[in-house]
Amino acid sequence: MKKFFLSFLLIGLFSLPLISQSEFIRISTDDIDLVIRVAPQSKRVYQAYLGDKLMNESEFKALSFSLKGGSEGSVSARGWEVYPASGAEDFFEPAFAIQHNDGNMTSIFRYVSHEVNKIDDNVTETVINLKDDVYPVNVKLVYHTFGKENIIKTWTEINHTEKKPVTISRYASSMLYFESPAYYLTEFSGDWAMEARMSTQQLQFGKKILETKLGSRAAMHVSPFFQVGLGQPAQEQQGTVVLGTLAWSGNFQFTFEVDNSSNLRIISGINPYASNYELKPKENFVTPEFIFTISKDGTSKASRNFHTWARNYQLKDGKGDRLTLLNNWEATQFNFDEDKLVDIMGEARMLGVDMFLLDDGWFGNKYPREKATTTLGDWDVTKDKLPHGIPFLVEKAKENGVKFGIWIEPEMISPESELIEKHPDWAIRLPNREPYYYRSQLVLDMSNPKVQDFVFGVVDNIMSENPDVAFLKWDCNSPITNIYSPYLKTKQNQLYIDHNRGVVNVFKRVNEKYPDLPMMLCAGGGGRCDYESLKYFTEFWCSDNTDPIERIYIQWGFSQFFPAKSMDAHVTSWNRRTSIKFRVDVAMMCKMGFDIRTHEMSETDQKFCQQAVADYKRLKPVILDGDQYRLVSPYETNHMSVMYANEEKTKAVLFSYDIHPRMGEKTMSVKLQGLDPDKKYKIEEINLIPERKSNMRGNGETFSGDFLMKIGLNVFTTGQTNSRVIEITAE
Ligand code: DGJ
Repeated sequence: MKKFFLSFLLIGLFSLPLISQSEFIRISTDDIDLVIRVAPQSKRVYQAYLGDKLMNESEFKALSFSLKGGSEGSVSARGWEVYPASGAEDFFEPAFAIQHNDGNMTSIFRYVSHEVNKIDDNVTETVINLKDDVYPVNVKLVYHTFGKENIIKTWTEINHTEKKPVTISRYASSMLYFESPAYYLTEFSGDWAMEARMSTQQLQFGKKILETKLGSRAAMHVSPFFQVGLGQPAQEQQGTVVLGTLAWSGNFQFTFEVDNSSNLRIISGINPYASNYELKPKENFVTPEFIFTISKDGTSKASRNFHTWARNYQLKDGKGDRLTLLNNWEATQFNFDEDKLVDIMGEARMLGVDMFLLDDGWFGNKYPREKATTTLGDWDVTKDKLPHGIPFLVEKAKENGVKFGIWIEPEMISPESELIEKHPDWAIRLPNREPYYYRSQLVLDMSNPKVQDFVFGVVDNIMSENPDVAFLKWDCNSPITNIYSPYLKTKQNQLYIDHNRGVVNVFKRVNEKYPDLPMMLCAGGGGRCDYESLKYFTEFWCSDNTDPIERIYIQWGFSQFFPAKSMDAHVTSWNRRTSIKFRVDVAMMCKMGFDIRTHEMSETDQKFCQQAVADYKRLKPVILDGDQYRLVSPYETNHMSVMYANEEKTKAVLFSYDIHPRMGEKTMSVKLQGLDPDKKYKIEEINLIPERKSNMRGNGETFSGDFLMKIGLNVFTTGQTNSRVIEITAE
């Protein structure tokens, strides 16, 4: 009997999940350590260390002497608590705030257990379970570490078993602490056509908040990512920097707070603005992923961490190829018919691109989409304009040897549309006030499952009727205005969150049904560019601003977080004062496309573009999948230079741009990076205007990687808007 009992106990023990208990929980990548300490008596959980990887785990115990770990003997356990709630000992911004059923507004979380799961050789998951010992509220902290890429992804899951719903009014994805003599924040802010402008400021006592309240197209004024330089402003090649981003395309908030001891806390999560969330018993509130890296070699290295990680793990078809294309938006706006489109397909063929992309203006019959003020929601082809429908266009594209892609903006509804006549309650709008419009349209209420089905149906109908459609451009031009959901009725405070969750649900459904369909994320330009959406999209449209000079800055900005293959860059007629070569060279450093009528170009320019497309296709593996090195910043000089090198260091492509050099300016040589010092490389300027020869010193010659990285190449000139593309090949 005793034996039976013992074996019963043993079986019971072994069937428990692998849960370990120790004072320190180490969450690491190849170069970064995040050490979390569980205070032995109080079981409160602290960030004991975050930074460069530590060599000796045996020395971790010394970390518990630090004040960051809270002083167990004293009344206050204040310290660098990983998930501090409001109303307890901490006097600064909390990660979490709640109102319990009895009206009480405090919570203190204590350690329950943790588990470490190896997902594969490179990825490890750590889950730390916390609970409030006075109220039945649980928090799960989840960390995924990506070893080689030095990326940590973290989020929280919150649930409770109180009798009635509780209200949570703060629900951060992550709280991180830093101690440094000074902190410098780089933000990426702007507006339509001015996306991702970088500016840096020193953080002083108190708070600096980066946030959006736009609801959808939420990143129009500020992007959901930041850089913090520790001790000095973030720099490309040296210094310790933290790069973080929130995978959430709705309202986000980053709070940077320097406290009385000059410590910095960074709180990242959904913006709680107007969003007190009612959480039902047992409902699991999952916060968005916060993704970060730390580099002690500046932002260039940190960005490469992000690029490689995104291609390997997050971006839809991250390792796959990308299609070059010709779009018709800039070329025609709404003014086209079948003949014109077929003509443009011929131009796509002439250019040698892979695809023709039909933009806005192809749909609606009762209210044909002839201008931006009508028709969103009525996704049937305009018979007068395109009498033979989409199948005809797909066929014509085929005849021209190109694929066919199409634009949609399915989350939106026009006040003049059949959809709003049929479903007036599907639009987000106030029942008792005059509506106000952004771009003359309203946002569909994606918190409503029926609306989600409709939006999914927009894609599904196009795809099932036209299985050969090879690409979707998914636009989103309006923020949420007239904030009222007819569906949520008395729970308007959940609209921003539930709407965004609804959008992501649809993205997921589309992706599940059409996993191989490349899709472009667009929100009136770069108003939506987050790593949740990019799980379901192969790329995003950085900006409607395609002036190549502006694009140099915009692409520099986005490249801090996103790999070149996810960043769409098109050659257009914006800034005609620049040469077609300059415009092409700027687009070529990302995922290149065209949005221009080629018949308006000279024969020489057409030939140039054809050759550029052919070269781009040949060099795509290096530009889109190689390591990116940002060499010369447009923010610091009158020039810009960026290069890509493949993993084997056998092929590289260097781009250089003279923006507005001063007269008589001394141009510096550009020192290359990412090459093998022992290899010999042939240097060849490509993308030359037909019949013109390169006048670059060293063109056609061979140099060692050592020479190129220490002495460099004289690629810059003092001419306005000159550019060069240099192919570098190991012999
Ligand atoms: C905004 C996008 O950014 C443009 O590229 C274009 O698709 C227009 N919308 C169409 O309305």
